[in-house]
Amino acid sequence: MPGECGRQNVSPLPPGLTADVRWNRSISIRSPTGSAHTPPQRVLLTGGTGFLGAYLLHEFLTRTDAKIYCLVRAGGHAEAFDRIVSALRGYRLWDPRHTSRILPFAGDVSEPGFGLLQREYRALCRSDVIVHNAARVNHVEPYSRLRSANVEGTRQVLELAAGGGIPVHFVSTLSVAAACARPPAGPVLESARPGPAEVHGNGYVLSKWAGEELVAQAGERGLPVAVHRPDRVCGGVVTGAVSTDDAFWTLVRAAVMLGAVPPESAEFSLVPADYAAAAIVHLATHGGTGRTYHLTNRSTAPLTLVWERLRARGFPLTTATLADLTARLTGAAATDQGLARAAAIPVQGSVGEVRFDDSNTVHALAGTPIRCAPMSAELIDRHIEYLVDVGFLPSPLVAAGASA
Ligand SMILES: NC(=O)c1ccc[n+]([C@@H]2O[C@H](COP(=O)([O-])OP(=O)(O)OC[C@H]3O[C@@H](n4cnc5c(N)ncnc54)[C@H](OP(=O)(O)O)[C@@H]3O)[C@@H](O)[C@H]2O)c1
Repeated sequence: MPGECGRQNVSPLPPGLTADVRWNRSISIRSPTGSAHTPPQRVLLTGGTGFLGAYLLHEFLTRTDAKIYCLVRAGGHAEAFDRIVSALRGYRLWDPRHTSRILPFAGDVSEPGFGLLQREYRALCRSDVIVHNAARVNHVEPYSRLRSANVEGTRQVLELAAGGGIPVHFVSTLSVAAACARPPAGPVLESARPGPAEVHGNGYVLSKWAGEELVAQAGERGLPVAVHRPDRVCGGVVTGAVSTDDAFWTLVRAAVMLGAVPPESAEFSLVPADYAAAAIVHLATHGGTGRTYHLTNRSTAPLTLVWERLRARGFPLTTATLADLTARLTGAAATDQGLARAAAIPVQGSVGEVRFDDSNTVHALAGTPIRCAPMSAELIDRHIEYLVDVGFLPSPLVAAGASA
């Protein structure tokens, strides 16, 4: 199936992919019962211990009165609750007044029935809406390592939803749409649906594509579904609280630790997590199914802005060629796990001139105060402050001492 985009890739597709994305026809989809305009009282959220998941949970807790069923990997419900609170605290989002509205379920999306007891599973079947955000997010692992969480997990979520006609909001990634980017084509439309051969080479993107395919097929059979495709997510605009697993900040840390940056610059853009979460929660609570939404930042910034803000905070950064930096990174990676991770990050071409249409998102958020904050020095500053505060970046004094 070539999809709407045309590029073909020669790398062989993983065995079993066709079967992975085939909807089981024996699963019947119940007609949706809820009204699209009734505020949901019970929300099922997956991935609430993760970065974006913590922001989504916070958004549901602050913007709705719903109880949030959080499906979380843990040894028991108490541990599940502790893990959720720990994530919220870590991202500076914890408010103890919300305790009674967080209902933890210790389960795994990739297991049949999520590995829950029957009565627990039945409780989840009473959800009014599902936001399926859990995924194994790893750009280095092959599809075979990711399919269980990202494809089977999505199938399990859809099967639960099918039984009750429950709307599903699937958190995908803009990287799926990026597979359709072919200069000099116009902006990549939200309706763009690449074929598997176009989602080239990256197991993670392929696994998210496969998830989208299952969601689309469930939608074609009558389940109310929406796909949300965020671009690279950064921390909230007020706190800058971001995942320290993120590739972008891992590379920024590498520059700080090496005390040098390349002379080349490139434009980049990040989508603040509070915006992405607010948009998804608004759409999930206002019947925004039947569409795909691109969550992008229309503004960009040059990488030199990050170096400038690091220098302004006291980090000494010289300039070195990319070849020199790569050699130094490879050498230093032996003794620093974070640098080893930075060295393993696949070098990806800049999306450069590629533009992503976000008309569905803009239209759906019109009349709400939900807007994506532009890329700015302040946004970068908040991230640097947070990352120093949590010890991911050294303090500027320590960094200056190390490079003296
Ligand atoms: N971060 C970005 O820049 C970005 C950009 C575009 C799209 N996205 C999408 O946003 C979603 C969240 O990403 P993230 O960056 O927040 O990732 P993350 O911090 O790694 O969080 C992933 C979450 O999924 C959970 N999970 C993974 N496998 C699971 C399983 N088998 N059963 C139950 N839960 C499981 C994790 O649970 P544990 O805590 O137990 O590991 C964690 O809560 C993903 O769907 C991702 O594709 C992220």
